[in-house]
Parts: sequence; C-alpha cells; structure tokens
Amino acid sequence: MGRLSLAVLISGRGSNLRALIDAAAAPDYPAEIGLVISNVAGAGGLEHAARARIPTRVIGHRDFPDRSAFDAALDAAIGAAGVDLVCLAGFMRILSPGFVARWHDRLVNIHPSLLPAYRGLDTHARALADGVRIAGCTVHFVRADVDTGPIIVQAAVPVLPDDDADRLAARVLAAEHRAYPLAVRLIAEGRVRIADGRAIVDGAAWAGAGAGLLNPGG
Ligand code: GAR
Repeated sequence: MGRLSLAVLISGRGSNLRALIDAAAAPDYPAEIGLVISNVAGAGGLEHAARARIPTRVIGHRDFPDRSAFDAALDAAIGAAGVDLVCLAGFMRILSPGFVARWHDRLVNIHPSLLPAYRGLDTHARALADGVRIAGCTVHFVRADVDTGPIIVQAAVPVLPDDDADRLAARVLAAEHRAYPLAVRLIAEGRVRIADGRAIVDGAAWAGAGAGLLNPGG
C-alpha cells in the first residue's frame, strides 16, 4: 500500500509542518507531504518545504473577493495534487462550511489547547489567567464550528508557577511536534474511525504512544 499523501496548509513559521516533514523522512512513516499551501507570501514554513523539495503554492486570501472564492482556489489546488488528507498547521483562516463538508473526515487541525477548553485565539494567556495546572494541544478532525470535531490525539504539559504565555506556548509547541506526526500516523495506518461524533483509535501501539506524550520533554 502506498503512503498517505498530505497537503499541509500554513500561515506562518511552520514548525508543525517541519515536524511532519521530519517524521515523513523516516522510510517507515506511512504518510508523505505532496503539497504545502500558504495563504501568506513569505511565510517561514515555505522554506522548510522548499528545503525538503516539497511543492509549494501561495494562495493569498486577499486576492479573492470572498471566503468561498478563496476556498474554491484552495480546493482546486489540493484536488489537483491528488492528496488524501489535508492538515491545517497554523493556518489562520476560517474555512467555509462547503470546504469543510467537501473534506469531511479528510481534514485535520492542530490547536494549542486541550479542547474543548480554550477554543479560539490566545489560548495560553487565557489558560494562565484561569490558573489552570495542565495545558496541552489537540489534533482533531475539522467540523464547521471553529475548533470542534472528533479528537484524535491530545498531549498534556504542566503549567509551571513562573510561566508566561511565551514559556507555556513553547512547552505546548514541543508537545504539538509529537502529537501531529502521531495523529497522522494513526490515520494513515487506518487505526482511526469515527463513531457517534467521536474518533476511536484502535491498536495496541496507541497506549504507549499516548503515555509518552504526557511527558513531551522526556
Ligand atoms: C501552533 O501552536 C498551532 O497549534 C497554532 O498556531 C501555531 C502554529 O505554529 N494554531 C492555531 O492557533 C490554530 N487556531 P507553527 O506555524 O510553528 O506550526
């Protein structure tokens, strides 16, 4: 069986993209990146893709009259590349319900909180303001409501007494870099199915990998 082909959509520095590129460099990793799309020209992540000789496209949202025209251009580019799974990795545009429906269960996102807590922006500052003790990240299938959808992988990290939003973000980001390649691997290996709006992950490997994520530094 061939490797699952991914399109990765970014808007910025692309450290999660880089984590996926690094994972896919292993010969036994079951997915490969066929296309990287940025809605921002000059996004740092485009350099990671170029270095790995992955085709890139810049599709600037400002070049289109409305969201659905932009999403149609995205859809055309992804469709032409023949990818199996679309991965949002710091892609800071809300996708239209039509796009989300078209890629139903073939569209995943990484979000820097333990959903369903802290949907939206400024997750780390809000978590610190609430005094939570545990933070983390979530990889989930995308649904029309922002930052909702069946959860595939979560990784937790401690919140430490002297954290500010940047320090906490860095600790969560390290967890993201493990969680996203794991979630894509689980999907590519056919271990993820959706039942009653929840993602069910099969297989013994899951238990160990999940436990390891609780200590992303270790
Ligand atoms: C990551 O922390 C990701 O979880 C977040 O943006 C950052 C992108 O970093 N995504 C969102 O907030 C989506 N709502 P990266 O460009 O280095 O991967």
